Amino acid sequence: MEQPPWWQRGVIYHIYPRSWMDSDGDGVGDLPGILARLDHLTWLGVDAVWISPVYPSPGADLGYDVADYTAIDPLFGTMEDMDRLIAAAHERGLRVLLDWVPNHTSDQHPWFLASRSGRDDPKRDWYVWRDPAPDGGPPTNWVGYAGQSAWCWDEATGQYYYRFFLDTQPDLNWRNPEVQSAMLDTLRFWLERGVDGFRIDVLSLLVEDDQLRDNPVNPEFREGDWPYLRQHFAYTHDQPETRELAMRIRKVVDEYGDDKVLLAELVVPIEALAAYHGPDGDGIQVPLNFELLEADWNARGIAAFVGRYLAVLPPGAWPNWVLGNHDTPRVASRLGPAQARVAAILLLTLPGTPILYYGDEIGMTDVPVAPDQVRDPIAALIPGRGRDPERSPMRWDDRPGAGFTTGTPWLPLGDPAVNVAAQRDDPGSMLALHRRLLALRHDSPAMSGGAYEPVQADGDVLAYLRTGDDGRWLVALNLGPGAGRLDLAVRGRVELATTPDRDGERVEGHLDLAGDEGVVVRLD
Ligand code: NOJ
Ligand code: MG
Repeated sequence: MEQPPWWQRGVIYHIYPRSWMDSDGDGVGDLPGILARLDHLTWLGVDAVWISPVYPSPGADLGYDVADYTAIDPLFGTMEDMDRLIAAAHERGLRVLLDWVPNHTSDQHPWFLASRSGRDDPKRDWYVWRDPAPDGGPPTNWVGYAGQSAWCWDEATGQYYYRFFLDTQPDLNWRNPEVQSAMLDTLRFWLERGVDGFRIDVLSLLVEDDQLRDNPVNPEFREGDWPYLRQHFAYTHDQPETRELAMRIRKVVDEYGDDKVLLAELVVPIEALAAYHGPDGDGIQVPLNFELLEADWNARGIAAFVGRYLAVLPPGAWPNWVLGNHDTPRVASRLGPAQARVAAILLLTLPGTPILYYGDEIGMTDVPVAPDQVRDPIAALIPGRGRDPERSPMRWDDRPGAGFTTGTPWLPLGDPAVNVAAQRDDPGSMLALHRRLLALRHDSPAMSGGAYEPVQADGDVLAYLRTGDDGRWLVALNLGPGAGRLDLAVRGRVELATTPDRDGERVEGHLDLAGDEGVVVRLD
């Protein structure tokens, strides 16, 4: 029988490299640091790492403003460090995925410097330049991330350039074939060095309408919403050309074998997300599903979403789940520490590939930053939405630098009590729960690849069965603080729970759950 690809059974661990491990005492995490801590990942039991950008960058968006796609920023180390990291990861059976930022470059990228230098420059068309509207204002009503006009005026050449994010992150013109081939070559560069795939930044934004039609305004926009929600992105996001480009990108990674994988960030409704898998599985294998990041945390809503998501996936497409990332408050802060354990069971037992954000395995919470500690430019542009709190350095132990750095950390450290060393040997810890869940997934074909069937439940209880060659499992999660009960027509034994004291308990007739409790039952 044909084996499923590694990334379907595997779990992907997301490292924000500034914050994972600092090897040289400058307070910023780096590649030798990741190398030094790889054993944490194998001990934990994940299968791959995705590393946020480590390319040369002025750092306006902390690496998501790339000035060279085929080099390493000295802040993070050298190309040799990257080669060593890839080799060491592979020796341990870990895959390495890099972040690829195709929508925009840094304004310091040589391509943009050339493009901006004059209207006749050969690279002028590599970016999206347009004349002003007849009234002298921006060419369209399109808005960017911070709700501002997405057009930036360039005095010297008398045109606007389009950029969805910061002024310093001009959008590439993906309609230009030279841009396409230059960017696709950057994928080949890393594939040649042995990387196992990529996470693609904001793929849905690659192409904009060439007729420059205005976006319709969103009548449901309310003050306090994300500012960019002022509009429906009919003409700037998820254009038909973008879907075609997704398939071309896939073809490039397929040149390097069938075990390479593409993850992609797509800010689109669930039906469109599903479409990016491609009609014949020839698109993005893992269009990242952000529902758990944003969902109202209640059992009926989540159960309904799981059903809807699985139903819209094209035949053969594989689901995926994201519970935390570097752009969203941490799960332990969103839901509280007790419910974060329940959420960990959910993430690691739902059907599909889980993406685990660093630090969530120890229950790290958001770390507030004082005004003089702010590093994220978004904090200034969109008050209250800065992303520093969820990017605080990994806490390895309770030493002053948290085992992360011997210097001054680039962002403040969180609660000293929440750290890897303290949790490693504690069977009741968040870390132990993650490790057991990962082992269970690893050992159980039902959990990693089996069938999913929802179980009728009431109130805050979410329940489902996973079935495979190793038998049947019941997952029952109480998503609320009050006690819950699930009536059962099946019998079994508790395999693991949010608290270890239920291990081995026989279950028959019904299953009682305390508030914020989750259990996994091996059925007879
Ligand atoms: C999405 C990334 O996850 C985020 O961190 C970044 O600021 C934007 N894309 C722009 O690249
Ligand atoms: Mg460093």
